[in-house]
Amino acid sequence: MVFPLLDRDSELVALQRAADRAAAGQGGVVVVAGGPGAGKSRLLDEARALSHRAGLQVLSARGVELEHEHPYGIVRQLFEAALLGPEQAPWLVGPAAAASTVFTPETEQEAAPFATLGGLRWLTANAAAEGPLALLVDDLHWADPPSLHFLHYLVRRLDGLAVLLVLGGRPGAADELGEAATSILRPAPLGPDAVVQLTRELLETRPSERFAASCRRATGGNPLLLVELLRALRAEGVVPDDAHVDVIDHIGPSAVARIVLVRLRHLPGDALPVAHAIAVLGTGVVTSLVAELAELEEAAVVEAVASLVEADVIDARPPLGFVHPIVRDAVYREVAPDGRDRSHARAAELLRARAAAPDQVGAHLLLAAPRGLRWAVDTLRAAADDAARRGAVETAVTFLRRALAERPTDADVELLLRVGLTEAAVDPGAAVAHLDAARRAARDPGSRARVGELVARLLVFTDPPAAIAAARQARAELPAGGSPASLLALERYAGRFSGIAAAPDPAPEPGSAGGRTLMAVQAWDRALNGGSAEECVALAAGALRLDEPAATQEVVDRTPLLTAMIASTVLLFADDPRAQGFWDAWHAEAVRAGRAQAIIAGHVWQGWTQLRLGRLADAEASLRAALEGPRAWGPGTKSPPAHALSLLAEVLLHRGDLPGARTALDRIPKEVSPDTEGVLLCRCAELRLRTTEGRYAEALGIVDVTGARLRTVVNPAWARWRSVHAEALAQLGREEEAIAAASEELELARRWGTPGPVGRALSLLGVLEDRLDLLEEAVETTRDPFARLEHAGALLALGGAVRRRRRPSAARAILRDAHDLAVACGADVVARTARDELAAAGGRPRPVAGLGAPSLTPSERRVAELAASGRGNQDIARQLHVSPKTVEVHLTTSYRKLGIRTRRELASALGEPVASEG
Ligand SMILES: Nc1ncnc2c1ncn2[C@@H]1O[C@H](COP(=O)(O)OP(=O)(O)OP(=O)(O)O)[C@@H](O)[C@H]1O
Ligand SMILES: [Mg+2]
Repeated sequence: MVFPLLDRDSELVALQRAADRAAAGQGGVVVVAGGPGAGKSRLLDEARALSHRAGLQVLSARGVELEHEHPYGIVRQLFEAALLGPEQAPWLVGPAAAASTVFTPETEQEAAPFATLGGLRWLTANAAAEGPLALLVDDLHWADPPSLHFLHYLVRRLDGLAVLLVLGGRPGAADELGEAATSILRPAPLGPDAVVQLTRELLETRPSERFAASCRRATGGNPLLLVELLRALRAEGVVPDDAHVDVIDHIGPSAVARIVLVRLRHLPGDALPVAHAIAVLGTGVVTSLVAELAELEEAAVVEAVASLVEADVIDARPPLGFVHPIVRDAVYREVAPDGRDRSHARAAELLRARAAAPDQVGAHLLLAAPRGLRWAVDTLRAAADDAARRGAVETAVTFLRRALAERPTDADVELLLRVGLTEAAVDPGAAVAHLDAARRAARDPGSRARVGELVARLLVFTDPPAAIAAARQARAELPAGGSPASLLALERYAGRFSGIAAAPDPAPEPGSAGGRTLMAVQAWDRALNGGSAEECVALAAGALRLDEPAATQEVVDRTPLLTAMIASTVLLFADDPRAQGFWDAWHAEAVRAGRAQAIIAGHVWQGWTQLRLGRLADAEASLRAALEGPRAWGPGTKSPPAHALSLLAEVLLHRGDLPGARTALDRIPKEVSPDTEGVLLCRCAELRLRTTEGRYAEALGIVDVTGARLRTVVNPAWARWRSVHAEALAQLGREEEAIAAASEELELARRWGTPGPVGRALSLLGVLEDRLDLLEEAVETTRDPFARLEHAGALLALGGAVRRRRRPSAARAILRDAHDLAVACGADVVARTARDELAAAGGRPRPVAGLGAPSLTPSERRVAELAASGRGNQDIARQLHVSPKTVEVHLTTSYRKLGIRTRRELASALGEPVASEG
């Protein structure tokens, strides 16, 4: 029975507006959030109808409690009919092909989860390219986790797609998605008039005022409770007048469960057991299955179902199911837990006998206690395999853990390994525990060593001491002739990373992959320990084999994340221009293979490069993208990496955003060991923040507390703190100590040898000692693309010193350069100080040219740069995870800002900021 929609005027307006916008090509997200029975599904029904009327093609899906582990269940509900039906919609072409495994997991391989997400977005884009699209998903709180990840991914990347997403669910799940929504609708309780109207509909008599008010009080205006209450009253034949108000009060403000159960108990004989069986089976219910589970004749089941339909408990329309999920829930919970356990175990058996899909059988096994059954282990593993081949890692993990529980005493090495390796992507902590159990259970030392190395790799960043222990043990078990290089590399890296005494330092071993990891670690080790940029670059380039002709692609394919990250980081802070080329190729490969962790590392790396090149707006965008977290990047990306947070804080300090820097530093996860390199970088950023805020004494306090560990940081290109410390000391009048600290940094910077840090230390020392020669040297030293920020700072310092020597016209020229460069970099703090200095010198900044490369937004610049490198629009769209239309828009705007007409002019237009007039 459908009742007229009551009290939802504003919601309908919002939905209509969103549908019209989508029909006009502009997508949006509407989230409908509310508690049980608040009227969410009803609003989604309305959304469906008005989307149809607005000319959208509508695809819909809903979460079902028992299908929580159906891999990509929601996504398949949305698209499967169109893709695999008779029409075979051609939506899996181009980059969308990466998602085909979701629908047909035919390969033997596991799908890469992040590539799958990207592919699914393209599938959505392809579908919307045929005409504006509405995707409706209800009951998000039961959606399977991989599909939920896709929705989170999609709502952040709807830009340029004619797709309306309407998502309904209970507050927790819905609100999380609501963060990125265009609007959130929260259906309110029904008002007095609506209650009167609904009562009249259901009881076919106009209720008395008191009767209606009493109904409203008993249900709080919750539509579902009202409907159920009225159904119960109708079943009892109650007349809605003042004389019968006490009947409602007698039922009281009870929940649906009680009302439904009261109704159920009035039904004849087999209705109750049949309702129970249907509730346990949940989905895909057929009469014969219900009969077997309830141990009844089929004829009896048919009869019972008829009475349940009559009583508005079971839906009249097939397939067999309840009128409302809450009614199912009430019936389900009425069975005692051990009864439910037995029923699910039996349901699993029955479904298996009928050759049902492994995940369908598995769904029931998940709800039943382990019984030590071989077939159950096999079924759960089959369900996990299927999930993994569809790219649904979290689902695979759930099934595998349950498989493990089925045989708790049997140390099955192979199963433990499988669980651990699958978990590595989503729950590294649990992965380590399972892999370690597998290692202990393994018989031959060779396997133990191999698994030990996996454990060490997983622990390198999160628990360096444990990583060292694991690597040492694996080294001890290494069979004769096996190379210890990669284990030694892990040991040394973890040691250096956490400030623990490192492993022996063997000779470089360029041949093997392990040997190359070792070279990368040695490069890093030297770089942080007082080596020169030159010698470290040689080692890092060897690790990446950059000198071998035309080997890039092969190197990229075969360089593990750790080696690539370490070696290219060294190249980066040694200002080696080859770093960019290597990283671009490596990043493209990571995108192709869909390795989220690697893509995130790429963003961090990119952000750092941009910071060093003095492109602060771009740097901020890259780092924020990296830090967006698991909702944007999929499972397994948990706490934000500390070094990325410190870089972001650094960028924001340059930009004058102190509160932003504070927020970034406050996000450092508490569980990370305070001695790790990443946290140490954050301490340096903290020191800088306090100094910038003028809290000098507190800044010195940080050095006092962390001093010993800070003093081990000797490379100012990696992390500078001595000069900041010097600034704070100077502000507190401790000039001599300040000069000593700045001089020490200068010496260390010279030892490393790149221009930026040398120039920065020179500037500071020049200011502290008020020496023009040092300031001039700083300006000369920093004429380098990797030292633009330092150059702006040096010009500012020099200009100020010249002004104070009463040479205002010379000072003005220098300060204008400082100002323009700072503006081009987006370094607002230097720009502002330069303006003040200029004013003091009796001048004004040159009018800033509004256009030119610096005026591009970060996204425009990224698109323009890719176009300049010869990429096509489709290709760019794929790499940046945006639509081709977005790419076009960005390019058009960029051409206009750059004052060019063709793609060929892009490269030179992007090269340098357009000169402003003097
Ligand atoms: N505004 C309304 N006017 C009239 N009837 C309504 C209204 N909203 C909901 N109903 C009716 O109330 C009942 C419960 O509503 P609905 O199923 O939409 O709730 P829900 O929020 O989706 O519940 P759940 O949390 O269980 O998914 C349905 O029978 C529905 O038709
Ligand atoms: Mg609902």
